[in-house]
Amino acid sequence: MSIKGLTGLLIAAAIMSFAPASFAADDVASIARGGRLYDKWFKVIGAPKPAETHPAWPSSNTAKKGNTTHRCKSCHGWDMMGKDGAYASGSYKTGIPGLKQMAGKSNDKVIAALKDSTHGFGGKMSEQDFTDLANFVTKGQIDIDAVIERKSKKAQGDSAAGGRYYQTVCAGCHGETGLEPKDMPPLGKLANKNPWEIIQKTLNGQPDEPMPAMRAFDLQVSVDILSYLQTLPKE
Ligand code: HEC
Ligand code: HEC
Repeated sequence: MSIKGLTGLLIAAAIMSFAPASFAADDVASIARGGRLYDKWFKVIGAPKPAETHPAWPSSNTAKKGNTTHRCKSCHGWDMMGKDGAYASGSYKTGIPGLKQMAGKSNDKVIAALKDSTHGFGGKMSEQDFTDLANFVTKGQIDIDAVIERKSKKAQGDSAAGGRYYQTVCAGCHGETGLEPKDMPPLGKLANKNPWEIIQKTLNGQPDEPMPAMRAFDLQVSVDILSYLQTLPKE
């Protein structure tokens, strides 16, 4: 075979071996978008804020009402553990179970649940939205208690490494000490108060904001960032 022919063959082989990687990239983007939908789907898709309290929101909880009761995270938790996680108590206590058991299950099961009479989301989101949500629930879950110590809320990361990531990736928008933009609480405060929320925002991005999602990188990168955020000023 000529050198040219061989080069052509090698290029073809290289393209073929890259193909699965590009599918994986589609998947990770879908999972991250699913994570933002899980956070606040109506903001992501630009739908009007639901006005009424969600019918599945229990009447025992009078602390919350209106649009926040339509967010997946409000019923199932940032840690995906529902009544067995951080929302076992506090203003989001509902008694609703988490979604850990759905990791590794088929997307169809999740999509069927979203369209059932409990949720009533059928027709409120597109099929792509349902697919992204299902990818997040079935393929995007992390072992949360392995990365955030539940009692102390301490992230199990390397804050020095996290500082290098933060100062190069995040500081341009959030400032060197996490006090920007001005209309949100300091990142140091949020990261210590609700680390389960902050790891999800770091992995998936912020709904309808041009903020990066770190999910394509190793999970440890986001855990290291969270550890660093926990060292930043709280006010
Ligand atoms: C107002 C509260 C509420 C909201 C908001 C909510 N859910 Fe649920 N979800 C429930 C309840 C209640 C169940 C039924 C749990 C049971 O079986 O007792 C449930 C069940 C599920 C199940 C099935 C779990 C299983 O083990 O079969 C999935 C999947 C699910 N929810 C995903 C979501 C997603 C994704 C969102 C956001 C788009 C969402 N839920 C929003 C209350 C809610
Ligand atoms: C391109 C600008 C940009 C970059 C880069 C960026 N963010 Fe953000 N981020 C935002 C904006 C805008 C908001 C929403 C601010 C608001 O709600 O007022 C936000 C919100 C957040 C929130 C949610 C705060 C809340 O109130 O719930 C967290 C957590 C966060 N960012 C962490 C990070 C981390 C960690 C990085 C780096 C990995 C990062 N951001 C990089 C723009 C950015």
